[in-house]
Amino acid sequence: MSSQDFSSLPKNLDPTRLPSHIAIIMDGNGRWATRRGLPRFAGHRKGANALKELLRCCKDWGIPTLTAYAFSTENWNRPRSEVQFLMNLFEQLLCHELAEMQREGVKITFIGDVSSLSASLRQEMQRTVQETACNSAVHLNVAINYGSRHELVTACRQLAQQVQQGTLDASDIDASRLEEQLYTAGMPDPDLLIRTSGEMRLSNYLLWQMAYTELYFTDVLFPDFDRSMLHDALVQYQNRDRRFGKIALTVPQTLVNAVSN
Ligand code: FPP
Repeated sequence: MSSQDFSSLPKNLDPTRLPSHIAIIMDGNGRWATRRGLPRFAGHRKGANALKELLRCCKDWGIPTLTAYAFSTENWNRPRSEVQFLMNLFEQLLCHELAEMQREGVKITFIGDVSSLSASLRQEMQRTVQETACNSAVHLNVAINYGSRHELVTACRQLAQQVQQGTLDASDIDASRLEEQLYTAGMPDPDLLIRTSGEMRLSNYLLWQMAYTELYFTDVLFPDFDRSMLHDALVQYQNRDRRFGKIALTVPQTLVNAVSN
């Protein structure tokens, strides 16, 4: 990762305690459009702009990785026209934004089952991954046709096959062996999940990876999610006490005062 200039970071954020990885569920695009009397498509377009702005902000503030839930395994159940629109939008964005992403030093990767995506979209995804592989300013990881349960079932199946072939002993299967089979192998787990639009669910997103992730829910619809809202999320994140199942190592100031008085 390139050295960061934290000069644009809001003063009340501690640059040493920023999340290394933010996962986002970009919810509320459809409602944003409907409330304005616009077709749902308009909300997705606006959502794509909000994502670009969010990514730029991560880069400016020194947050190395952003994983965005663009299309879930359940999203195929939407009307055909909306699914088609989203697939075309992904392809157009990858095609039209690549040059700018290169200029900004964005590395792009994907997670999810690509096998049911169109050949042209897969080709665009592959090109994007190859051409941005050496960039290091910020990492955008896009979840397309992603579902955590599918990811975990596939991982278990791969481990079972190795056992069956005699290349793996069942007693050697542990958390890290399983993680090696996930789409996210080699990536740090998200420190912070942001979900917009007031929904308070994980919706089959990174269930294994988010075992210790801090969850942040906001009523703001994704197309309206901007820098100031990311700032709010980060302030709340930095006020959380992440214990990972341990007990607090620091003694609260109130207790210190009570004992010394
Ligand atoms: C959820 O809102 C949003 C989506 C299913 C699509 C999100 C996709 C983008 C913002 C484009 C990003 C593109 C790339 C290449 C990363 P919703 O439709 O569920 O909203 P609703 O809950 O109001 O109906």
